[in-house]
Amino acid sequence: MPKIVVLVSGSGTNLQAIIDAIKTGVLNCKISTVIADRDCYAIERAKAANIPAYIVERKLERANLSQTISKYIDKDCDLIILAGFLSILDGNFTKSWENKIINIHPSLLPKYGGAGMWGLKVHQAVLANKDTESGCTVHFVNDEIDGGKIIHQERIPVYPADDAQTLQKRLIQVEHQALVLAIKKLLSESKNIC
Ligand code: GRF
Repeated sequence: MPKIVVLVSGSGTNLQAIIDAIKTGVLNCKISTVIADRDCYAIERAKAANIPAYIVERKLERANLSQTISKYIDKDCDLIILAGFLSILDGNFTKSWENKIINIHPSLLPKYGGAGMWGLKVHQAVLANKDTESGCTVHFVNDEIDGGKIIHQERIPVYPADDAQTLQKRLIQVEHQALVLAIKKLLSESKNIC
């Protein structure tokens, strides 16, 4: 069975969507490890699902942090998922997992990506720009922040009454579906190659 590792920093609703998709048979894989760069609610979700969870010190220098994370990842891991992971991984790490490490971002990349664009800031930028649609992107991770090849995008309308919070709340539901769909696609493609 394919093995995946999930990296988290926050509430972990995307992690929960993966856990639930495995439970209901939508995804045929096992989460071998959850790694967080800070104490966060996602760790509680991992524990509740009996998944080994580790916290790494986010204040470590970038290469050091990536090396520490590597120690918790089996060499035969099929996919690494950044599900709300806020630390930046170093180029050696992303290169060594090329095409096997993915991220979910709450905008239609390449719009509203890059350093500092996370959380409500993304939705505030969408509203400030008077965009009529937003969405989320699942993409491969390379050494450019939010810059890897796009795997999947989902769109939602922006309503005149929206504020950053309502937009975030509506989009996160769609993110969960997009992430599960992208994982399913990648795992089935890698099975076909093997
Ligand atoms: C999501 O909006 C995701 O797109 C972004 O960080 C947030 C994580 O939310 N990268 P959660 O921790 O999965 O609830």
